[in-house]
Amino acid sequence: MKSGHRKRLLIQEVAPRDGFQIEPIFVPTELKIELINALGRTGLAKIEVTSFTSPKAIPALADAEQVMREIVRSAGVEYCALVPNVHGAERALACRVDEINLVVSASESHNYANVCMTCDDSLAQLAKITAFVGNQAHINASLSTAFGCPFEGEIPPARVTRLVGSLFDMGISRVALCDTTGMANPTQVMELCELVLARWPTVQFAAHFRNTRGMGLANVLAALAVGIERFDASLGGLGGCPFAPGASGNICTEDLVHMLESMGYSTGIDLEALLACASTIPQLVGHSVPGQVLRAGPATRRFPMPQYSVEQQQSAVGSQRRAHH
Ligand code: COA
Repeated sequence: MKSGHRKRLLIQEVAPRDGFQIEPIFVPTELKIELINALGRTGLAKIEVTSFTSPKAIPALADAEQVMREIVRSAGVEYCALVPNVHGAERALACRVDEINLVVSASESHNYANVCMTCDDSLAQLAKITAFVGNQAHINASLSTAFGCPFEGEIPPARVTRLVGSLFDMGISRVALCDTTGMANPTQVMELCELVLARWPTVQFAAHFRNTRGMGLANVLAALAVGIERFDASLGGLGGCPFAPGASGNICTEDLVHMLESMGYSTGIDLEALLACASTIPQLVGHSVPGQVLRAGPATRRFPMPQYSVEQQQSAVGSQRRAHH
């Protein structure tokens, strides 16, 4: 990519919601707020702060109101929250969210496991929430299991496009295609993303990939190659859906930003500041996280030149010569 023509990509951080929701320990509210405030200063386009769900279903996010109310918002960053029903939307709007994230699965069995409803009932619920929210906040719909379901397997692309069409019909303008359990491969990603972009060329779709089977960043490149420019990612690679077996490992935000920036894309994100946020995660959740760049440092990192004595150099040259004869 030519310098000066850096294509801008939008990165959406999901760790405070998608990451913390499955952690067995409760991250203290003031530490969540501190992390979100620091994330807000890194240049991210959007932060998914929490979810307004039943605290019995997701106890790790039972402090949603306090977190949403007490964070210090940075200009230019959207602060969003996941909601499962109208009651959740009421709670979220009372805390001035910029965007409400709604979830419906492309597969019946995952939808039922997640929200105890059929997909049709979920769509009716989403329509009710959308009508209730009106223009008080943006609405994004995350279409879970769009690239495969851990219970049902492959999801026919025609089913995905039908569901996406229903979401737009009810007035939702933002859609994220989600690979909830890391089943997608790059060829499939290209095909499905091409299909939706050809059908709705003016819509800015987002993609949500997992690294469960090591294909996360490859899937980003596949989606990017056909025109997707918004990506969800999670600090440290935290995350997973509590109602989808094997849903570990979101793609890691700092690894994603590092890859895209080294390729010449612009994310608007200060990688050093992001790495500083990522470095706090193991202590917050009480275990190590899969992010790679935090461990290795960016590729621009340089180590001191090895220093050898004259004897060591001569002995290395000698053994090289012997190896050649
Ligand atoms: N906020 C707070 N409490 C809520 C709520 C909300 N948005 N929605 C429901 N509740 C409470 C009800 O008040 C009720 O409480 P009670 O038992 O004290 O009376 C209880 O939750 C059950 O309510 P009900 O309407 O019967 O819902 P349900 O049991 O069918 O649960 C969901 C449905 C969607 C609310 C619940 O399963 C949920 O929050 N799931 C989390 C989904 C999620 O975040 N998944 C991860 C996304 S990847």
